Amino acid sequence: MSLRVLTGISAGEYRSRRRQLMDAVGSDGIIVLPAAPERVRSHDTHYPYRQDSNFHYLLGFGEPQAVLVMLPGRRHGEVIVFCRERDAEREMWDGPRAGTAGVVSLYGADDAYPIEDIDEILPGLLEGRSRVYYPFGCDAQFDRQLMGWINQVRAQVRHGARPPHELVELGSLLHEQRLFKSDAEIALMRHAARLSVQAHRAAMAMVRPGMAEYVLQAEIERVFRANDGWPAYGSIVGAGSNACVLHYVANNAVAADGELVLIDAGAEYRGYAADITRTFPVNGRFSPEQRQLYDLVERAQAAAIALARPGTPWDALHAAAVEVLVDGLLSLGLLEGTHAEVLASGSYRRFYPHKSGHWLGLDVHDVGSYRIEEQSRLLEPGMVFTIEPGLYIRPDDKGVDARWRGIGIRTEDNLLITEAGHENLTGALERSAEAVEEFIAEARREASNE
Ligand code: GLY
Ligand code: MN
Ligand code: MN
Repeated sequence: MSLRVLTGISAGEYRSRRRQLMDAVGSDGIIVLPAAPERVRSHDTHYPYRQDSNFHYLLGFGEPQAVLVMLPGRRHGEVIVFCRERDAEREMWDGPRAGTAGVVSLYGADDAYPIEDIDEILPGLLEGRSRVYYPFGCDAQFDRQLMGWINQVRAQVRHGARPPHELVELGSLLHEQRLFKSDAEIALMRHAARLSVQAHRAAMAMVRPGMAEYVLQAEIERVFRANDGWPAYGSIVGAGSNACVLHYVANNAVAADGELVLIDAGAEYRGYAADITRTFPVNGRFSPEQRQLYDLVERAQAAAIALARPGTPWDALHAAAVEVLVDGLLSLGLLEGTHAEVLASGSYRRFYPHKSGHWLGLDVHDVGSYRIEEQSRLLEPGMVFTIEPGLYIRPDDKGVDARWRGIGIRTEDNLLITEAGHENLTGALERSAEAVEEFIAEARREASNE
């Protein structure tokens, strides 16, 4: 007996998500959305399976080899799912399947068919619908299959068939919908954030000179798994100048006395991501140079966070962070020229090459446009995003005084826009240099008393 997998989202909410999308598509459109493909990792073993975020958002069904088809206004059922049929032999190896009956009774499909029958049935569903909403180019094999089904309908034109004549990117409607988080989604994101705060604290408490980066990674991910979470993305643990490698994932160096360690790691809980970065001293105390850069990054983050409220243009957050960083870099002598010259030339990008944040949700870099008709979009309640300024002074940068070289710092928090302003979902995690030093000192006192 298979049960509906707990996702933290009610059946009613999935239904209203589908309704909202179908209303936007209209009765001459059809939505075709495949589940994520399984990927071979080596020989006959697979990467851990994760459902496609759009598919999960609309159905909450976690199995591979499935296709969701929605036909707004169809009298004999609007929501059709093709999926694996139940199979006692396969279920003994791979675990339970919902089967076609389960997809109807547990996941709210109006009708379901075995995935093997899709070639036979789907052309008939496409017939008479003028627009097909579909995520192009995500799965080359499925792209070919879809064209094959459309061509089957085209082949019947002489017999009066009406093939679809427009292919529309599904994301144009669905991503806008996903950008605004419901109360239930926000509850899950708060949980992912809390769990990630707990994991970062565990790593901060255990760091010691001589500890390998992967030991800190293991502690972070232990806390995720011990609380029913998974890493939302490859955890980054970079000690010393490894912190200057933006997508560092080797995590195999040793953290030395006098270095900082940058940890960018977040839990995924019931599909929803947190994304936190903290940078802290391996020996528990910032050096004067580390401290100056750290405080500067913190001020840049605070300037962006202060603007996080309804009505602020998205771009204003990055601009505020850059303003502060440029001022600070000039006064520390790390940049030359005037403030206006540095902004105009973009020379600050040598130390700050990335943007200050991104939407956050089912995907760590979540969907939703940042601009509307060439204009930066305005923040609205229900949006969740990161604010993550940083500074990275490369170890081989001969253009700066040697004492600055090899320092990499980023601080990243997750914000929800509310009617009143914002809620910092990850704000409980120590952030100021004093708070970080105090937290580490206290953890060491506790450890030495044990
Ligand atoms: N961890 C990915 C990012 O910060 O965007
Ligand atoms: Mn991020
Ligand atoms: Mn991050």
